[in-house]
Amino acid sequence: MMTERLVSHLRYAALAIPNFQEERDFFVKHWGLTEVESAEGLAYLAAEGSPEPYILRLRQDDKRIDLVGLATKDRKDLHALADKLRAEGVQFVHDPQDLQGPGGGYGFRVFDGDGRVLEFSTDYELRESRKIREREPIPVKLSHVVFNTADLATTAQWYIDHLDFAISDSLVRPDGTDLMHFMRCNENHHSIAVASGPHHSLHHLSFEMRGIEEWMRGSGKILRAGTRMIWGPGRHNAGDNTFAYFLDPAGNTIEYTTELAVLDEDTWHPSRMDISELSTQDQWGTAQEMSELVARESFNDIDKGLFVAPPV
Ligand SMILES: [Fe+2]
Repeated sequence: MMTERLVSHLRYAALAIPNFQEERDFFVKHWGLTEVESAEGLAYLAAEGSPEPYILRLRQDDKRIDLVGLATKDRKDLHALADKLRAEGVQFVHDPQDLQGPGGGYGFRVFDGDGRVLEFSTDYELRESRKIREREPIPVKLSHVVFNTADLATTAQWYIDHLDFAISDSLVRPDGTDLMHFMRCNENHHSIAVASGPHHSLHHLSFEMRGIEEWMRGSGKILRAGTRMIWGPGRHNAGDNTFAYFLDPAGNTIEYTTELAVLDEDTWHPSRMDISELSTQDQWGTAQEMSELVARESFNDIDKGLFVAPPV
């Protein structure tokens, strides 16, 4: 029997950053996204390979995660989810209503247990996407969003209890304590992951490339743009996806990935993978060994947006 969930998939991430223009230029000129709409201090960026009207929204402000956008398959599920979350005491930003921005649609916003703002939407207009060409080094779509949390167990449990996310795999320290949970809302190995960190913040945003060739070319293109690769290139064990992590101009970690595992949810059993085993972090052995120093690069600044709804 298929797992029944009200959340169907990840749509987009919205970030606020102080250096708006620099960040926008980076994502359009170098990272390979397409600007579809903009206003003063606000830009909506799409991936050419994705029918989502946009996958990244940038807004000029103090650094924070503005929103993470998730979809339901229709209005019935959207209302069922809103009713469920309200009954569970989840704090709402606004009730279901018509949405502004590219694609429009209908949706509502809530705070997750730590105060990040989530938007659930449906009935939005899809963008005309195209197949990314062979060797074309631009993202197909947004793959996943990863949060740092000061309380890993509580954050992960919130997504399990309220949104029916499931843990696909976990990374554990040699002493057996949890370090990271990879969480799915569909057959993709993870759409959200939560990592144990010093505070609540964005760990990274990951963008899927067409294949290995395009992922390598994309990574080289970003290196040539003068951006440091903080970890990679390699292939994770959890999710079996390739990774190359960079810092964007605002200091957020961003990843090019490809070949993320697609699971048979009915037969999948989560693993707990010890990070002291080299193959857990990188099956290939091409990335430098994960260390405290590398890990710290993605702790990021404390999220200034917790329990504060963004103005748009
Ligand atoms: Fe990732």
